Amino acid sequence: MMNVAGVREDFPALRERDGHPAPAYLDSACMSLVPSPVLAAMEEYYRDFPGCAGRSLHRFSEEVGRRFELARGAFAGFLGRADPRGVVFLRNATEAINLVGQGLPWEAGDRVLISDREHNSNLIVWQRLATERGIRLEVLPLSEDGSFDSDALEERLRARVRLVSLFHTSNLDGRTLPVREITERAHDAGALVLFDGCQAAPHQKVDLDRVGVDFYAVSAHKMLGPTGTGVLAAAVRPLEELRPLVVGGETVEWSTLEGHSLRPAPYRYEAGLQNYAGVIGAHAGIEYLGRVGFEAVERQQLALNLRVTRAFENEPRIHLLGPPNPRDRSSIFAFTVDGVDPNDVAVFLDEGHDVMVRSGMHCVHSFYARRGLSGSVRASFYLYNDRSDADRLIVGLKELLLRVPGTRPTGTSGGTAGSTAPSGSAPPRASGSKAAAARSARPRRRAGRGRAASGAGSG
Ligand SMILES: Cc1ncc(COP(=O)(O)O)c(C=O)c1O
Repeated sequence: MMNVAGVREDFPALRERDGHPAPAYLDSACMSLVPSPVLAAMEEYYRDFPGCAGRSLHRFSEEVGRRFELARGAFAGFLGRADPRGVVFLRNATEAINLVGQGLPWEAGDRVLISDREHNSNLIVWQRLATERGIRLEVLPLSEDGSFDSDALEERLRARVRLVSLFHTSNLDGRTLPVREITERAHDAGALVLFDGCQAAPHQKVDLDRVGVDFYAVSAHKMLGPTGTGVLAAAVRPLEELRPLVVGGETVEWSTLEGHSLRPAPYRYEAGLQNYAGVIGAHAGIEYLGRVGFEAVERQQLALNLRVTRAFENEPRIHLLGPPNPRDRSSIFAFTVDGVDPNDVAVFLDEGHDVMVRSGMHCVHSFYARRGLSGSVRASFYLYNDRSDADRLIVGLKELLLRVPGTRPTGTSGGTAGSTAPSGSAPPRASGSKAAAARSARPRRRAGRGRAASGAGSG
């Protein structure tokens, strides 16, 4: 059983300030909070051994090099890779996906298969390759109810697909795809697989070698680490086929004025001076997670997701996104509220209840555009959230519903977000400058148009 109160004490951001209680921080799918051991590890680097790895021969340099490689080994273990040479440190998951996308030796007509619910980080790169290199981007539609259609995948794989690139867990609604089955089917059809693991790796044990995944992208800032640190965890053979995205210092074995020879993987992909503090901090983050254990993390977030889901399952004005069962939604409770813009919901919860959620399009604009929706609200739970956080969300949302004019609870069951329609009634207006900013940033309900401030950011 996890001691949540003890865990919370390790997170300095969870404190009272300026007359506000510690926030109910329910935005970990965007950015998780950072515990003291991570802050200490980063400070330790700058304080005790602030050198460049692999360049100078003094003790600082030796120590940072040792810590950097320790972190590489730890990430390999964390993600289930036996060979740490498959772990490439990059800025974030977006860069990891770009390294694969821009690095594979494409031929015109090569097919890449994605789903219809990918984060922009796993969409735009392929669209660009379609325009510039003539690859063919195929889209696998996913069902509204969250079930995965193996036959649809099989059907798509019949046309020779070069790469299947899908989310592992969706940042939109928390659904998790069956990575083993997808990987096996893709490999049987001769395709490589890439999974965007941003929303999965922070919440469940990932075993990449056992499943046989070729490429896997993660970001440290969603698993207790600092911003600006990401990992591509690849199988070594396919990794070596990639053309580096950036070259220069650190990537070469030797150079003359006429040419150069690149270092082996992973070093050829880590150009320039590295984010040592970030990587060392990210290592401390996964160590922290390891001490708590995924079983405890999963149990805690499921209990909270269940609590919030139950509170609104008979509320017809709240429309859940994704599978109805919280067990199938990882740490995410995403929804729309009839007649209230998602940005207004978020500002209302923040200003009125100190509840921090994410609103907007979550970097999956294509999903909302197709449905004529202006976005959704996403509450995401993590190991430091307790029951009072869930209850504050419930109380805040109930109060919001009381204020929505022209709509009444009927006591019948809630719907799905796909059926959400604007009620035409005026939404409650949160006060203050943030509310105004949210309102002015609100996208129009017109497919494919508008750029909500919160929808345009990272998901
Ligand atoms: C599913 C998913 N993919 C990709 C990303 C992009 O991650 P990063 O900003 O670290 O590149 C995110 C971030 O929110 C995400 O949730």
